[in-house]
Amino acid sequence: MTRIISLANQKGGVGKTTTTISLGAALAEIGQRVLLVDFDPQGALSVGVGVNSIELDQTIYNLILDRSTRFEDVVIKTNIMGVDLLPGNIDLSAAEVVLVSEVAREQALKRVLQPAREDYDYILIDCPPSLGLLTVNALTASDAVIIPLECEFFALRGMALLVDTIEKVRDRLNPELEIQGVVATMYDGRTLHAREVIARVKDAFGTRLFNATIPRTIRFAEAPVAGEPILSYAGDSRGAAAYRALAREVLGIVDDQESELAGSGRAVPDNELAEGRTADQSTEQSIDISTNTFSPPNGSAGASENAPTIDTEIYR
Ligand SMILES: Nc1ncnc2c1ncn2[C@@H]1O[C@H](COP(=O)(O)OP(=O)(O)O)[C@@H](O)[C@H]1O
Ligand SMILES: [Mg+2]
Repeated sequence: MTRIISLANQKGGVGKTTTTISLGAALAEIGQRVLLVDFDPQGALSVGVGVNSIELDQTIYNLILDRSTRFEDVVIKTNIMGVDLLPGNIDLSAAEVVLVSEVAREQALKRVLQPAREDYDYILIDCPPSLGLLTVNALTASDAVIIPLECEFFALRGMALLVDTIEKVRDRLNPELEIQGVVATMYDGRTLHAREVIARVKDAFGTRLFNATIPRTIRFAEAPVAGEPILSYAGDSRGAAAYRALAREVLGIVDDQESELAGSGRAVPDNELAEGRTADQSTEQSIDISTNTFSPPNGSAGASENAPTIDTEIYR
């Protein structure tokens, strides 16, 4: 069965596009048939897989707004084996405006992706950095959301709004939508600060935080310039390994050394973040995603001692 996943976070520069490309490439490496959907007017996903989308006549924009355009007219093969692309470019910013007056304006992408379900195992949608109609379309078309979260002090700011949007889409448009997990990106394990942020994110999201943590490395900035995913550009790097681990979690494969600790993000049943938070929280909670507050940990050491024990009950 095809699984459609949106990579969403209204903050820019948190690793949505990088995660879409790298996770897609990693899933393809394990034999999955993957379609990447560039749903950000900036077109960074297309560029990142070596497609100059500015020069294309037919993009996802045409597919969404012109019923005579067919999926086959727009989809292109990338130079990553097993990975196809629905390219996007700046035209998409107009789509957001035009869609407003359309009937079933939230369902446009869902309709377009319907025929693709037969041909792919995973469809990954790279969302724009906003919670507007494009992101709502992506969420409406998806079975699940993965939230990339940059490991920095204000990472959780805005999270309540994102979760709220996801819940509204689930209530009104797409009852199947689940939050598959949160992936911590740009992690620098040498700094205590980054470790503390991870501990806080773990407090807030519990088991919905993927075990795979994406390290901060310059390789990620270099790869898109080469129009290649990190998996081929720097296949032996820590960054590539991290995305391979993420792909395994997304597929529900539990690695040996992790099996005692954790399962996959997918193993989490329907996600009620608010409830999850209460359930996973000790009384020492320092993040409240509903109010967007973030209290730095008391004292400097001990972030890991304060990390909550993992609630194993909800693992399959
Ligand atoms: N793990 C990482 N380490 C270092 N740089 C990264 C990492 N992930 C992404 N980047 C870089 O950070 C910038 C923003 O990432 P991007 O994936 O485009 O974020 P978004 O799509 O959320 O705006 C890009 O220049 C990208 O190359
Ligand atoms: Mg992006």
